[in-house]
Amino acid sequence: MIKPEYILAVDQGTTASRAKIFNQNGRRVTEAETPVPQSYPHPGWIEQNPHDIWHSVQSVIASAMINSGVRPDEIKAIGIATQRETTIVWDKQTGQPIYNAIGWQSTQTTAIVEKLRADGYAEMLHEKTGLPLNTAFSASKLRWILDNVPNAQQRAEQGELLFGTVDTWLVWKLSGGKAFVTDYTNASRTMLFNINTLTWDAELLKLFNIPATMLPAIKTSSEVYATTESYQFFGGQVPIAGLAGDQQAALIGQMGFETGFTKNTYGAGSFILLNTGDQPVKSSHNLIATVAYAMQGEIKYALEGSIFVAGSAIQWLHDGLHMIETEPETKDAALRSTNANEVYFVPAFSGLSAPYWDPNARGAVFGVSRGTNKDDFIKATLQSIAYQTRDVIETLRADTGFPISTMHADGSAARNTYLMQFQADILNANVHRSVDEETTALGAAFLAGLAVGYWDSIEDIKSMTVTGRTFTPTMSQAEQNKLYHGWQQAVRATQIFKP
Ligand code: G3P
Repeated sequence: MIKPEYILAVDQGTTASRAKIFNQNGRRVTEAETPVPQSYPHPGWIEQNPHDIWHSVQSVIASAMINSGVRPDEIKAIGIATQRETTIVWDKQTGQPIYNAIGWQSTQTTAIVEKLRADGYAEMLHEKTGLPLNTAFSASKLRWILDNVPNAQQRAEQGELLFGTVDTWLVWKLSGGKAFVTDYTNASRTMLFNINTLTWDAELLKLFNIPATMLPAIKTSSEVYATTESYQFFGGQVPIAGLAGDQQAALIGQMGFETGFTKNTYGAGSFILLNTGDQPVKSSHNLIATVAYAMQGEIKYALEGSIFVAGSAIQWLHDGLHMIETEPETKDAALRSTNANEVYFVPAFSGLSAPYWDPNARGAVFGVSRGTNKDDFIKATLQSIAYQTRDVIETLRADTGFPISTMHADGSAARNTYLMQFQADILNANVHRSVDEETTALGAAFLAGLAVGYWDSIEDIKSMTVTGRTFTPTMSQAEQNKLYHGWQQAVRATQIFKP
């Protein structure tokens, strides 16, 4: 009898870890999910315990395997997609982190970033890394840890400490400390990686005063990095063979291999990537040039607009305001709302991200009248996700000249049909939602499967049938313009108001 073989994909996101097992048709056999706690030690600071991240991954892998009955020896390879930029520093000998993971949304490094801006480094950094100068990226977080943990700089210089984004941490843990690696996509979010030379950049290491010995080796997104240490993987020694930032993995899971392909993953944040092909495109509007993937002998780039607050605004309706019990309720509330879309909510919880990049803006609600009710507010929250997406799509159009007549959608909030229809309306473009909203894990599986010959080629992957649902615009141009104009005024007001 032929032994069944599967690919295990891990999707370690900001607020949850997931494990999914796929078969050769790219069909999901099983999945498991668990939340990962965040802590907020001071306003604007967002941290996680690296052990919590690791344990959550162990737990979902165990659940997925137990639920499906798939044994370690039936897993051909493991692919890992991760939240990007989040920064961890640990002791090379003991494996103990010396500080919490500093989350990508955390703004505790504002002073470091503003000093660099004042010293005139923004343009050079953008040129080399493709990134706008912002607290989101790893370099300032790493600098902060070395500045704030006693003796850390000295220990780093003595070669005692390692730095990693979450991909690096997880591979290091799964391999029992044998592999210290990252991939091009994750490296391109650190602000220490030069997207033109595809190496750690000596000038940037000097600027941030980071010893090169702290940095992992940079690999492609699809190759065997290590095998799991059996005590870390239920007795199995399985190749770890795919790595990518979660947004890049979603692009791959959407099969976004063609230049011009555009996808939006609606997670805690919302991340829109347009595949720009063989070359990075330098944005004139503060978008991010990033590595889309490096596999099968080629490197592709993407232009990205990051929206920091999307699903996390819905989360806030739940646990901050106690307005809803579950996310699906938001669709019914939006459909119940009878106002004429005059309420605007700008969820600038940690400043405004692309294309504004204003770290000091704070959220606000506009257009409230005595008749405004909870349903109107929930609707405005969903609409804020769609408006922010339009801000980015307009900018992508301006930077690349691509018309973007179809945007591909995935991520948990893409399940919301009200949001998808409003998105198509406000974009005046088709929104194609993939059949499985969680394409991130599928992308990680593709990367791992390609590396070990489970799938032969990108063509092989493209031949898999994908279905989904397309939402087409139904709103009049005049109405779109009126609503979007209101949004733009609301955003401007949040930039003016400085408490
Ligand atoms: O850049 C941050 C991003 O990778 C986080 O994605 O899905 O965990 O919100 P997500």
